[in-house]
Amino acid sequence: PPQPVTVTVTGAGGQIGYSLLFRIASGQLLGRDVPVRLRLLEIPAGRRAAEGTALELQDGAFPLLHGIDVTEDATAAFDGVDIALLVGARPRGPGMERADLLEANGAIFGPQGAAINAGAADDVRVLVVGNPANTNALIASAAAPDVPPERFTAMTRLDHNRAVAQLAAHLHVPVRSVDGVIVWGNHSASQYPDLSHATVDGRPATELVDERWLADEYIPRVAKRGAEIIEVRGSSSAASAASAAIDHVHDWVNGTGDRWTSAGVVSDGSYGVPEGLISSFPVRSAPSGAGDGAWQIVQGLTIDAFSRERIDRSVAELVEEREAVRALGLIPA
Ligand code: NAI
Repeated sequence: PPQPVTVTVTGAGGQIGYSLLFRIASGQLLGRDVPVRLRLLEIPAGRRAAEGTALELQDGAFPLLHGIDVTEDATAAFDGVDIALLVGARPRGPGMERADLLEANGAIFGPQGAAINAGAADDVRVLVVGNPANTNALIASAAAPDVPPERFTAMTRLDHNRAVAQLAAHLHVPVRSVDGVIVWGNHSASQYPDLSHATVDGRPATELVDERWLADEYIPRVAKRGAEIIEVRGSSSAASAASAAIDHVHDWVNGTGDRWTSAGVVSDGSYGVPEGLISSFPVRSAPSGAGDGAWQIVQGLTIDAFSRERIDRSVAELVEEREAVRALGLIPA
């Protein structure tokens, strides 16, 4: 039988954690025959909530769940970790400037990256969910010089899933009919959901939607969906974010097959995105054991002027965030 996989979830006492952990325990993250050991990392304010969730996980009597530890110690949490889901982050408080936000998150993701560097399994896979996700992933990666940067990723799968679902709803087709959607750039309102390579039951999406809808409704709808959820639900996306985290890791480990998806991965300079930035790209993954365990950026796609402008705008925001965390000394110069 397969050995248990160690999965560490930070911010486990929060709302995403509450949705995420039960799906991991039920086998949806890695597969229904892969046992998991959970490590929940929290800060004092969230510790009791995480402990309560751990009690409920026990009550789920999940056959694949081989143990749960709750800790406030990052070194213990990441010792031997195979999959690290970095969900806990510092939200923007009232009157908080961007530099303050980046600095507060640097104080979280720097030490967590260092703890991953010290103790993680050689083939660790890290997904940063906590915002600002791309730059937090950059900070964690910079603090983990012995871990290949390809192992640090940021979640744009929720944006990708929203982009697929909005197109399917507009055309009244099942989600499964849609293929080839891409989300580029930052996980922020500047992201660019790109339909120029998308197909719907094999037909180019651009033949099925008009340009005005695309520019004036679709793109802003996807990019601002997080705000819409807050307005309607009264709190931010949680179960859908957890679901996207499951999708990201599941596809990374088990492979994307003949489709691609979107993920925030370290740029090798592809598509004019400066090397070293963690930006969303179209990506594929080989099944576990078949590749080197890194996401592969889909190559050779043509980028039209409409897309170029929007990709560049979001990437410029990532460059600014990188400059800001450099200036704060959170990543090396
Ligand atoms: P939440 O506030 O309900 O939970 C966050 C938890 O993290 C809290 O329990 C808090 O105690 C904990 N935490 C804070 N600092 C920590 C640290 N240093 N170590 C361990 N735990 C720590 O927030 P929620 O709704 O669960 O969201 C979590 C993060 O995910 C937020 O940053 C949110 O903006 C982000 N997010 C990202 C999405 C994406 O698509 N990338 C989508 C939705 C949310």
